[in-house]
Amino acid sequence: MQVKVLQSTDAAYKEENACLVVPVFEQGLPLMSAVLGEEDELHLQALADKDIITGKAGSCYYISNVAGAYGAVLVLGLGKKDAFDAEVLRRAGGAACAPLSANRIGHVYFDATAARVPAEAFLEGVVLGQYDFDVYKTPPEETAAPRRVEEITVLTPEGADAAVLEEACNLTVLIALGCNGARHLANTPPNEMGPAELAEFAKGIAKESDCACTILEQNQMASLGMNALLGVARGSANAPRLIVLEHRHPDAKRSVAIVGKGVTFDSGGISLKPGQDMHEMKYDMCGAAAVLCAMMSVVQLKPALNVTCVVPAVENMPDAAAQRPGDIVKAYNGKTIEVHNTDAEGRMILADALAYAVDKYQPDAIVDLATLTGACVVALGHYTAGLCSNDDALAEALSRAGEASGERVWRLPLGKDYAKLIEGTHADLCNIGPRGEAGTITAACFLEHFVGDTAWAHLDIAGTAWGGKHIPHLDARHATGFGVRLLLRWILDEAG
Ligand code: BES
Ligand code: MN
Ligand code: ZN
Repeated sequence: MQVKVLQSTDAAYKEENACLVVPVFEQGLPLMSAVLGEEDELHLQALADKDIITGKAGSCYYISNVAGAYGAVLVLGLGKKDAFDAEVLRRAGGAACAPLSANRIGHVYFDATAARVPAEAFLEGVVLGQYDFDVYKTPPEETAAPRRVEEITVLTPEGADAAVLEEACNLTVLIALGCNGARHLANTPPNEMGPAELAEFAKGIAKESDCACTILEQNQMASLGMNALLGVARGSANAPRLIVLEHRHPDAKRSVAIVGKGVTFDSGGISLKPGQDMHEMKYDMCGAAAVLCAMMSVVQLKPALNVTCVVPAVENMPDAAAQRPGDIVKAYNGKTIEVHNTDAEGRMILADALAYAVDKYQPDAIVDLATLTGACVVALGHYTAGLCSNDDALAEALSRAGEASGERVWRLPLGKDYAKLIEGTHADLCNIGPRGEAGTITAACFLEHFVGDTAWAHLDIAGTAWGGKHIPHLDARHATGFGVRLLLRWILDEAG
């Protein structure tokens, strides 16, 4: 995506396949646009008088017979002024994708002189909204390839700081592309996105930057005592990996670690899942996809913060060699775990990954993202992620980043009463709590055993990683990339 910011008077629009997008609030006319000509402004006013243009959030009205030199106009509704925030504009940007594509628009001029709005949210909505996953589909022969918006020029009022806005827009686009990268990893089928392929992707990130990449193989993990992770991997023909990426900055004052659950397919193992919707468990590596693609943006942005990314990558399958319910394994930090359900595998692999990250890299804060529990989908649905943390400041920083990025989180409690529910009978811990009782929290309590005193936060993205409907910039047929935008916001805030 090409991004430019121009002061309105500098703009020359006469171009094929270009369209001027004019944002408007409900009851927002006259538009006060410095770009729109008087004749078109009156035309729009007449349509508004007839309630054809309403300004309702996400509504689009496309006009090609315009008097001005801009070829076409798309009036984009922003809803009521007092209900407006960046998410409204992000969603409107997503909603604009369909009419822009239908009219084969390649270059959008976004009129930021009409309504004073954060233009970068519009760009974000368009970049996310245009994402498609069609690489496995045979293209139809007769129809022309779809045209996508490849260039957005933001038109600002006289005297605005175009350079500052251009930087903000470019940052937003870079992060949105990272988000689309995570969606692509997640959507890629599990026969082509196993632990080895995730590791290759990480190596690719390192190759194009100066960040270090280490991949631990099965035998190395065995000598390190990562038996919780290895237990999960036993049933799969595809060997596990532990992936580490390290971004280091000479002026960094703090260090953080981000850890993502990378179960490339979760059949449940011997505690086999029901067949209904099992294919969705290709998305059980959405935590991994999010942290890897957040890292992809980190290595480009080079924030003054040391960031370590750790991904335990395994496939959870039933097999003669698979782990059994009843097995007891000893994790990297020496704690023993009784496996009562092989489908509670995410916490097993995260146990070793978290303990290893804390021990080896001693970060000031560690955040994990995982499609960890079905209970979280029950509690919060597809629109808010669960957050559990042993540190109030970290929890608040992540909540703020969630609000700012549009990737919202909601904190759930931890504590001794819940922790008691996952004590083991024959080992230190049991990998499940009582059925139907605070499953998201007991899973987090389990993880807490592996972070020591480090400030830690866990994001359960089981609901938000896919499955949300009616979010125009996040097509419900695909994974959402949830976490990339939130993590980047938080990391950039941490770097100061
Ligand atoms: N990957 C699943 C959680 C999940 C389920 C995510 C549905 C998204 C949608 C996880 O590994 C799992 O199977 N969790 C079990 C835990 C239980 C056995 C304690 C669950 O939630 O049922
Ligand atoms: Mn599972
Ligand atoms: Zn899982």
